[in-house]
Amino acid sequence: MIGTGYVGLVSGVCFSDLGNDVICVDKDTTKINNLKKGIIPIYEPGLQELVLKNVKNKRLMFSNDLKNSVKKSDIIFICVGTPTKNGGKSADLSQIYSVAKELAKSLNKFKIIITKSTVPVTTGDEVEKILNQKNSKNKFSVVSNPEFLREGEAIRDFTFPDRVVIGSNDLKSNKILKSLYSPLIAKGAKYVHTSRKAAELIKYASNAFLATKITFINEIANLCEQININVDDIAIGMGLDQRIGSRFLRAGPAFGGSCFPKDTKAITSTADKFKTNLSVIKSVIKSNENRSKLLLKRVYEILNNKIKNKQISFLGVTFKANTDDMRDSSSLTMIPQLSKKGALIRYFDPTGFKKDFIKYKNVQYKETIDECLAKADLIIIHTEWNDFKSLNFKKLLKNKRVILYDMRNLYSPMKMKKQNIKYFSVGRSL
Ligand SMILES: NC(=O)c1ccc[n+]([C@@H]2O[C@H](COP(=O)([O-])OP(=O)(O)OC[C@H]3O[C@@H](n4cnc5c(N)ncnc54)[C@H](O)[C@@H]3O)[C@@H](O)[C@H]2O)c1
Repeated sequence: MIGTGYVGLVSGVCFSDLGNDVICVDKDTTKINNLKKGIIPIYEPGLQELVLKNVKNKRLMFSNDLKNSVKKSDIIFICVGTPTKNGGKSADLSQIYSVAKELAKSLNKFKIIITKSTVPVTTGDEVEKILNQKNSKNKFSVVSNPEFLREGEAIRDFTFPDRVVIGSNDLKSNKILKSLYSPLIAKGAKYVHTSRKAAELIKYASNAFLATKITFINEIANLCEQININVDDIAIGMGLDQRIGSRFLRAGPAFGGSCFPKDTKAITSTADKFKTNLSVIKSVIKSNENRSKLLLKRVYEILNNKIKNKQISFLGVTFKANTDDMRDSSSLTMIPQLSKKGALIRYFDPTGFKKDFIKYKNVQYKETIDECLAKADLIIIHTEWNDFKSLNFKKLLKNKRVILYDMRNLYSPMKMKKQNIKYFSVGRSL
């Protein structure tokens, strides 16, 4: 596994748990040295136990030495980052190509080279060209095997995937990979074999569709607020239709994370290159970018536009629960804006302090929910961690009148009213 991040580490550990010998490689020496000591670089439930177990069983190793690790391996997964190019819209593939160049020098026998990273259509062709410059065609096969795991549920998602997609243009690699994934297929995962380009597009189309679902319900929530309807009722009523499905229909803040924002941009950029206008996805991007502004406007209204010196306490700052990932979290837009307007921000997150807010003098991390909420004028529930679902506000707030803006609809407006808490939520009666 080349790249020991959320995808590479989880996939590597899970493959080793299935009985394979795995070397997880990363160029980040601190990460690898820590992993060798059993220190896990990310927060992912259940991961530490699985790492320790498989290291002990001698099936899982960590290394900085890409060349030697590749020489010892039959199947190579590329799991490096494919962020959005600085300031641009398309995917930055420099990490992928740099790995491909390294691989080109290390093919001592036939190997299957797989992109597990999310890469635009035709990236596999480019990787093949790079490998071809130094190797004959029978030395390797380039395959696309996109990963669909969700942070926070990554081990479960890897172990019980709905489908395994293999995009390969030759039958030999298809046969080997079907056998690699056979324990998951035996447990019910559907195995989908396509052309390499189709597999590359399946990943982007899937993410763009899920992002569209979230954005759709967020816009319906806006309408619900205007006509005093509960958006949760709408989501249940729609979701029970099996053609629609209930998942990803929860209204809330703008979608964030390391995938949806960058992947929606990258797929429209690829389509533009092929002279195709993906107007639906372009609208989704625009609507989502607007969403944080919309929720901020709501915050200003709630505070009667008196933001200066108001203490605002954020519960959760990651883009979703059960992960420490801050990439493109909507808190990264909202907190700096509120800080600029003179608000005094405190935040608590179960995954701890975030360096993203260091540069803002009036933004403080608090180690407990208690400390975070003390003296609050406004509490914002930003992330749907279980830790925030059953808070005893009466006790925590010591009967001080506080406003609660629940961006995840974790609480019942009626119950909040009974507790004398001024309560706002998303897509529910104002
Ligand atoms: N995070 C997710 O939930 C998720 C889900 C599905 C797919 N993906 C895709 O998987 C890919 C990886 O995502 P991630 O979140 O795991 O990224 P990440 O940033 O957490 O990890 C990438 C790792 O690659 C390492 N790396 C970069 N260049 C390297 C090189 N030349 N040699 C060795 N290591 C190198 C980095 O040091 C880093 O540790 C991306 O394309 C992403 O879109 C991510």
